[in-house]
Amino acid sequence: MRAYLAARPNETIVDVGCGTGSFALLLKLAEPRLTVIGIDPDAEALDIARGKAHAAAVDIEWRQGFAGDLAAETADAVVSSLVLHQMPLSEKAATLRAMNRMLRPGGRLVIADYGLQCGLMRLLFRLTVQRLDGVTDTQPNADGVIPKLIAAAGFEDVVAPFTISTITGTIQLFTARRPISDAWRSVANDPD
Ligand SMILES: C[S@@+](CC[C@H](N)C(=O)[O-])C[C@H]1O[C@@H](n2cnc3c(N)ncnc32)[C@H](O)[C@@H]1O
Repeated sequence: MRAYLAARPNETIVDVGCGTGSFALLLKLAEPRLTVIGIDPDAEALDIARGKAHAAAVDIEWRQGFAGDLAAETADAVVSSLVLHQMPLSEKAATLRAMNRMLRPGGRLVIADYGLQCGLMRLLFRLTVQRLDGVTDTQPNADGVIPKLIAAAGFEDVVAPFTISTITGTIQLFTARRPISDAWRSVANDPD
């Protein structure tokens, strides 16, 4: 996930649904010049995240809340892992729109989550993830809705460059980009 994010020094990266903060911490340790913001509604998870960051002596901004709470056009990249599959369909769509909004034009989106499930993977997904998280919220992921929702939220260049089969089902990495605004495009395309 970190390789596909390709974070550059001095960028601002937001981890939506950061949980106990392992990935946010990894990012900051790998590139201390990053500004890393971890956001999650779960106060207990954030307490653990704070403890980990304190133990590693790194400065990460932890916020309790949702993607929509972050200011518009303040992030260079947004990451999120294993969060969308737990949300109702309308919340998946709203969260992706909020991710688009918080990104600067041209900003990157990197999402790792359960994707389209086929054959044995569909069975394993049913026996594990769907037993735990229920069917209603998880089935749209299994039916392949995530890339469609990413595109519908206003992203371009939506691709799934990496797929892994696990004992709980297929996990896919999705990458996309917030388009550069039309105004910027017309300037960039104007030879004068
Ligand atoms: C399975 S955990 C994944 C945590 C972490 N991203 C990881 O990969 O280890 C899902 C996380 O999503 C968070 N979450 C649930 N609903 C959310 C929402 N609407 N917006 C942001 N995070 C949410 C939960 O609190 C939980 O910490």
